[in-house]
Amino acid sequence: MDNHSFEEKRIATAECLGIEPNQIPRHVAVIMDGNGRWATERGLKRFQGHEQGAKIVESLATHCVNCGIEYLVLYSFSMQNWKRPKEEVDFLMYLYAAYLEGIRPSLMDKNVQFAHLGRREPLPQEVLDALDKTVRVTSVNDGMTLGFALNYGSRTEIIDAVRTLAQDAKDGKIDPQAIDEQAIGDHLYTAGWPDVDLVVRTSGEMRISNYLLWQISYAEFYVTDVHWPDFSLEEMNKALLSYASRQRRFGDTKAKK
Ligand code: FPP
Repeated sequence: MDNHSFEEKRIATAECLGIEPNQIPRHVAVIMDGNGRWATERGLKRFQGHEQGAKIVESLATHCVNCGIEYLVLYSFSMQNWKRPKEEVDFLMYLYAAYLEGIRPSLMDKNVQFAHLGRREPLPQEVLDALDKTVRVTSVNDGMTLGFALNYGSRTEIIDAVRTLAQDAKDGKIDPQAIDEQAIGDHLYTAGWPDVDLVVRTSGEMRISNYLLWQISYAEFYVTDVHWPDFSLEEMNKALLSYASRQRRFGDTKAKK
């Protein structure tokens, strides 16, 4: 899909929301928090919160496609999440593998490309197979990119990039003085993507949790108290309207869009 098609969608969405097309973010990163609290508040088990949380992902992704957003990345499982009780981790792994199998036809229908952000080890084979197949099958698409940050840690991502560059320098493939922002960015999972414009975090915590630290340098933040399973399309529109109201200056004195 060419930039023109994204732009057409942004024009239509902007008209609906009463904003300018260039006030729609190109790259949105979401921290889906609060599944456990959502379940506990209803006397349910934590896994039921995750199950409910998974149910809204598809409609949110479709909404983002329709809005002309080019990249949507969901923080699905951090490297630190392995510390959770084994039953919860096992359930989440089962959920991701099953979810990816189920969502593929919809990704194809919506022309969505799928990407995995994160280390492969120690993800179970079923999850790796589901990730690989979804990446492969959707690679023919050229619409929005949907990224799952799964077994992801931003510091680890940066360490991996630095190690590769250090090895390249040692092997004489790159001059250490030539290592710049572009070179580091080219070795991240998001190589070739624009920086994150908007970070959305549900469930009220004011922290980044080791998420896309390099890519969010100039991102705008939107934090809502709504727990992830209740994050509706109306809530997403509130985030978009909040983003549209920001003045992005990138260190300058004048706003840029
Ligand atoms: C945070 O809730 C959420 C996660 C650990 C990520 C899991 C997200 C999902 C299962 C929903 C999306 C699903 C897919 C398939 C992408 P929490 O357990 O940290 O909640 P709490 O802070 O209230 O305990």
